[in-house]
Amino acid sequence: MLSKVFSAAISGLDAQIIEAEVDCSYGLRHFEIVGLPDKAVEESRERVGAAIESSNFQSPYHQPVRVLVSLAPADLKKEGSLYDLPIALGYLLAADKIKFDPRDKIFLGELALDGRLRPIKGVLSFALATKEKGFAKLILPKGNAAEAGLIKGIKVIGVESLKETIDYLEGRKGIFSQKTNPEDFLQIPNYPVDLGYIKGQASAKRALEIAASGSHHLLMMGPPGAGKTLLAKAIPSILPQLSFEESLEVTKIYSIAGLLPKNKPLINLRPFRSPHHTSSEVALIGGGNPPRPGEITLAHRGVLFLDEFPEFHRDVLESLRQPIEDGEITVLRAKHSLTLPARFTLVAATNPCPCGFYGDPDKKCTCTSSQIQMYRRKLSGPLMDRIDLFINVPPLKYEKLASIDEENCSRKIREKVTTARHIQKERFKSEKNLTNSEMEIPQIKKYCQIDSKSQNLLRNYVDSGKLSARGYHRVLKVARTIADLDNSEDISFNHLSEALMYRIRGN
Ligand SMILES: Nc1ncnc2c1ncn2[C@@H]1O[C@H](COP(=O)(O)OP(=O)(O)O)[C@@H](O)[C@H]1O
Ligand SMILES: [Mg+2]
Repeated sequence: MLSKVFSAAISGLDAQIIEAEVDCSYGLRHFEIVGLPDKAVEESRERVGAAIESSNFQSPYHQPVRVLVSLAPADLKKEGSLYDLPIALGYLLAADKIKFDPRDKIFLGELALDGRLRPIKGVLSFALATKEKGFAKLILPKGNAAEAGLIKGIKVIGVESLKETIDYLEGRKGIFSQKTNPEDFLQIPNYPVDLGYIKGQASAKRALEIAASGSHHLLMMGPPGAGKTLLAKAIPSILPQLSFEESLEVTKIYSIAGLLPKNKPLINLRPFRSPHHTSSEVALIGGGNPPRPGEITLAHRGVLFLDEFPEFHRDVLESLRQPIEDGEITVLRAKHSLTLPARFTLVAATNPCPCGFYGDPDKKCTCTSSQIQMYRRKLSGPLMDRIDLFINVPPLKYEKLASIDEENCSRKIREKVTTARHIQKERFKSEKNLTNSEMEIPQIKKYCQIDSKSQNLLRNYVDSGKLSARGYHRVLKVARTIADLDNSEDISFNHLSEALMYRIRGN
């Protein structure tokens, strides 16, 4: 007999419906899975056989049956162990051992040998696909039910074992569908560093405020110990919380990467990723086989902090150019390409030279000029052209270190940032971007009008070669954010000059 049970596969960040057809006929003992299965899917045969036996049914291995499992569409690679449950149920249905209507249900789950179900990754995407494709029920391991329950409009049935699933499907056991209230799972922010603890550094803090408001890219330069890493660690404390839609987007990514914190089905805090400078291109950008999201995707809607920036491998840094421009990354794999979101705020920190004291008024730099040149080469060129704010972080003198900065505590700055984000959301409500940094040229023309005095100022910089065409547009976007922080509809000369100051200083 033939049965058809539905399941799903992740492709990129979204899930696609998979049909598991099982044909069961008398013949020599044989069990085959076709439809581009990977090793984990092939091994499903063994787990399914053992789990079926543990659930008090006869395993296909102890009977004269030929079983053919076909996972369609056949050209999509099937990965992982999540097809165990649909394959086991498909077999039992085809072998006429159980009866239920599989038409409106999606099944997912890895089986342990004793028939228990183990949690899987990517559940939020599966739940969204269940709803979008018009299925009524998602039946999956109990450990995943809270995450799937975030999606309204479908029934989410969390099951503990194959036996329990069958009892449920045949009507011997009722299971309530899981509903998750996102409010119950809001993570309480626990900021490691408050901006108010950091003494002095007023202009660096102002630049962080602008970067956080408009999601502009920033580079900090200063000697060791000046507080660059400390300032970067304070950024999460001034970022606004994610909206519910953004939360779902970020949660999908973390779920697929298997990085969702236990018992926290929803991420509501903006990601802050700080990969080490020895990270490979694949770790940063994503890819591999099977493809995994890289740090730039894990930093989506949040911050990617690259400390000791010039220590990163040159190729790795260069590969950031395209995603910075597009807000997404396309990774190639075998015949297919995969596009993942990567809209992050880049925050980079660097010493001015290998020893760190180049240009320091008090300490002597011990680097040779060629060492400095080599080091600086990484801080020039096309990637640097994509940085909006360059700031110097000087070493602090004693009187500043001994003072307290109450004006700039994180709570106050976060409120300003949140207001500026609201203004942007309102501005772009009929467009697809959320922040000023995402503006394309037609939007810049529309929203970044400047007066003639400002135009003259910019003209001088462009004509003298101090500002590239890309730099020109970036300055206008930053000026828009500065005006938003000032709650001003118009971009004034002051707004523009402040934006220009951050852009030019590091060149
Ligand atoms: N402005 C500051 N206010 C308070 N502490 C500071 C400040 N700047 C530096 N420090 C102290 O110095 C340490 C080193 O700072 P760090 O951020 O690691 O410097 P950098 O990354 O520039 O080398 C910090 O952990 C902190 O204790
Ligand atoms: Mg540091």
